[in-house]
Amino acid sequence: MDQPDLLDQPFADPDLPHRFRGKRAIVTGAASGIGRSSAIRLAAEGAQVWCADINGDGAAATAAEITDKGGEARSSRVDVTSPAECAGLVAAAVEAFSGLDVLCNIAGIGGMAHFADETPERFDRIFQVNAAGPFHLSQAALPHLLETKGNIMNLASTAGIMGQAYVAAYCASKHALVGLTKAMAIELGRKGIRINAVCPGGVNTNIMGDFMPPEGSSMSLVSRAFLLREMQEPESVAAMVAYVCSPEAYYVNGAILSIDAGTTTG
Ligand code: NAI
Repeated sequence: MDQPDLLDQPFADPDLPHRFRGKRAIVTGAASGIGRSSAIRLAAEGAQVWCADINGDGAAATAAEITDKGGEARSSRVDVTSPAECAGLVAAAVEAFSGLDVLCNIAGIGGMAHFADETPERFDRIFQVNAAGPFHLSQAALPHLLETKGNIMNLASTAGIMGQAYVAAYCASKHALVGLTKAMAIELGRKGIRINAVCPGGVNTNIMGDFMPPEGSSMSLVSRAFLLREMQEPESVAAMVAYVCSPEAYYVNGAILSIDAGTTTG
């Protein structure tokens, strides 16, 4: 697949749209993969970006990459499962940037297991990171987003749209995130803020290392969730994230946008 090499483009490149000039964004999961690419993409289009991740050094490295190229970014270590840390993150970003326009909930974890072997502890952790984290951050960010008529982008998954074998906890957490997106979009849409979800399949990032089919799994079941094509690169998803968070998408609210080469079409 031809992949545009967006990361090689210098910041403020006239060939990229500048949809985020004057906009301020928080991106979680910014140390790695889709979060890193999205932070870089939003900054390349003019946003001031706060890079947050439980991997604080990784978040700082992404922010440094942005500022080295002439963009504006800050970073901090945040565990999105902590309501207090989420509130602190939003307060710090709002103070540093004098407001907030975009929240990208991208941090996530996963893992595969036979349903019968999944532990309550891991189920809970996956749920806390993938579903409760976006809830905590959205609550903290809401008053600021209402002020700016901003928007929230939740990074869900094909596993938020379809059932998938051996990932019951992950699938449940991503369906919950899609439900959260829809409920918030309905409740808050008339107030001028937008809440959407982006649902990729098969992205070439570190998380894939945690998606090894457990022993004894049926490959025909596993392959139903995968892939009609080769994996995509995170920059491909970042481009969709940038669109949905941009003013161009002003009429897009409550949308569950798949980017999966057709995997969820049936
Ligand atoms: P990744 O592993 O490269 O990035 C995930 C990031 O989340 C890491 O930097 C990690 O440190 C951070 N993180 C984990 N727990 C955290 C916590 N408690 N607080 C703050 N940060 C935390 O993987 P990738 O692929 O970039 O994942 C990003 C999102 O995309 C996840 O929500 C994942 O579920 C979703 N996704 C990924 C797909 C793929 O094929 N790679 C497909 C569909 C969805």
